[in-house]
Amino acid sequence: MSGIRKVRAFWATFTVLLLLIAGSFAAAEQSEPGDFVSAQFSRSGLCSNCHGNSFGEWDGSMHSNADRDFFYQAMLQEYSIDAEAGGLPEGFCSRCHTPIGLVSGEIPPLDSSGLSDVAKEGVQCDFCHSVAESEGIGNAPYVLEPGDVKWGQRTDSESPSHGTEAHEFYNNSEYCGMCHNIYHPANNLTLAATYTEWKESPYAEEGTTCQACHMTPGIVGFEENPGKAASNGPDREHVYTHYFVGGNAFVTDVLGEGRHEKRAIEYLQHAASLQVKAPESAEPGEAVEMEVEITNSGAGHKIPSGVTEEREIWLELIATDAGGKELYHSGALDEKGKIDSGATVYHTVFADAEGNPTVRVWEAESILSDNRIGPQASAVEKHSFVMPEGASNPIIVTAVLHYRSASQEHIDELFGEGTYSVPVIDMAAYPEKAEASTPGFGAIGTLAVLVLGIIYRKLKK
Ligand code: HEC
Ligand code: HEC
Ligand code: HEC
Ligand code: HEC
Ligand code: HEC
Repeated sequence: MSGIRKVRAFWATFTVLLLLIAGSFAAAEQSEPGDFVSAQFSRSGLCSNCHGNSFGEWDGSMHSNADRDFFYQAMLQEYSIDAEAGGLPEGFCSRCHTPIGLVSGEIPPLDSSGLSDVAKEGVQCDFCHSVAESEGIGNAPYVLEPGDVKWGQRTDSESPSHGTEAHEFYNNSEYCGMCHNIYHPANNLTLAATYTEWKESPYAEEGTTCQACHMTPGIVGFEENPGKAASNGPDREHVYTHYFVGGNAFVTDVLGEGRHEKRAIEYLQHAASLQVKAPESAEPGEAVEMEVEITNSGAGHKIPSGVTEEREIWLELIATDAGGKELYHSGALDEKGKIDSGATVYHTVFADAEGNPTVRVWEAESILSDNRIGPQASAVEKHSFVMPEGASNPIIVTAVLHYRSASQEHIDELFGEGTYSVPVIDMAAYPEKAEASTPGFGAIGTLAVLVLGIIYRKLKK
């Protein structure tokens, strides 16, 4: 080979290498509108033929309702008008709420008129299992490869009807972090950060992922779920569940998804605990100081998390005298469903360009306040009143921590007064409510049965 030829061969190889590298980067770019057609994705009902359990769990979840959700739709229509006027990207919300609708170019228009049935399934089976890669955290930078191969996390999985490929990322919080962090499409302000809240928590350190709490029967940590991942597959020591339950007992209730509503209440009731310090008695005219500690004992992120401009957590605190006469009451709802203005509401308040509070996150320019309670952290509230004349000791203090998916005011504004009543869920109470007496045996019961059994056998002899 002459010297020139060698140089040419070098450059040829170099160019090919460069192209290959560029190609692999191009392949990893996030999927965009028009990259696919919706017919490349299967309806979830097809998967249910062999994955009946996963389907039954997912069906009725907020993932399955992510596009149908009337609350989302109402906000989307407001966004639609403002986006057009303000030059914001029309497909912003749909990337997460109807990913198939977005990548197949069925969105815009945002009025759902172009959406295929598979796109209306929201965050569904074939979308989630066609994610080959992710470009990072937030604003849904998924890289899709729909087709024969379904991506999962097991390395020994084989299916007669489709290819399987393993990717560890399915077992990591980064998978969920694609959509569970939201940044403003123009100014990049953080609008939701469930992933980051988790990442900075003790749960991330000890390896308790989103999947451990939201894809297993254990609400506050991993719990095994033995069974089959496919009816025609092998027995497995653990199969991940697909309920994806959080705190939404409002939209699930209205949509008639009772199983998911019940589970949401259960999740909320595993998230927090209350400690109350208050004197048992006081003289008339004396100041009675009460201290309540609210601890986020179960959630792997702040409470509330997600769309925290809507969610509300607050404490209702009542003190009565021995005769039941009310001495102090904070955190009650008025007849319009508004929380007493003296109470602390745990949520995020965004400000628009004029500095006014707004729940329309696309108008948000800054954060006015954010007092939410971090994972395994506590907030302390101090309350006091003056003991009136004629009140009898002891003083009885009760406290309840409430959760609501949105303020009644905002829901009334969107849908008209009297259309929907937003349910108030009790997350924790002080003193702790006595467990509803379940007809179990318990330790003492079991002992009694054993003893009776022995006596019976002795008598028979
Ligand atoms: C004809 C039956 C059948 C149909 C239909 C089917 N699968 Fe499967 N699938 C299987 C079997 C069997 C396995 C292997 C299960 C195992 O290894 O435990 C499997 C494995 C998987 C895995 C691998 C999970 C892992 O272990 O990591 C994924 C993901 C998956 N299927 C998704 C889907 C999706 C999405 C659909 C619908 C588009 C679908 N499947 C339709 C039978 C089926
Ligand atoms: C939000 C995305 C998402 C949706 C929607 C979803 N999955 Fe999954 N699925 C996952 C993830 C993530 C895992 C792996 C969990 C892990 O390993 O920690 C998984 C695991 C699985 C597995 C393997 C379970 C096991 O433990 O072996 C099967 C099978 C499966 N999914 C099928 C389905 C089917 C069928 C549907 C629709 C009814 C569906 N998935 C919907 C994300 C999703
Ligand atoms: C494609 C984006 C996307 C991915 C990926 C995704 N989610 Fe979601 N998730 C959503 C959307 C959108 C909603 C809300 C739908 C609604 O309320 O209208 C949601 C809702 C939820 C809820 C219900 C929240 C509530 O208030 O009750 C839970 C829990 C949840 N997701 C957990 C997960 C977990 C765990 C993962 C990872 C395995 C995951 N999600 C992956 C988009 C996604
Ligand atoms: C240690 C268990 C645990 C971990 C880890 C965990 N969660 Fe949760 N999650 C909960 C509990 C309990 C609730 C109910 C309390 C609440 O609504 O905040 C919840 C609620 C939610 C909600 C509804 C939030 C609200 O306040 O309305 C979303 C969305 C959610 N989780 C997503 C995730 C995602 C995404 C991850 C991982 C980045 C994750 N979770 C990690 C236990 C956990
Ligand atoms: C990066 C992903 C992502 C984007 C973009 C996104 N969302 Fe969401 N949205 C979510 C997730 C995840 C949840 C559930 C979190 C939770 O439950 O707190 C959610 C929940 C909601 C809810 C609450 C629904 C309920 O039933 O309580 C509304 C309303 C909503 N989104 C509207 C919008 C609108 C309007 C846009 C566009 C301006 C938008 N979202 C953009 C991921 C996204």
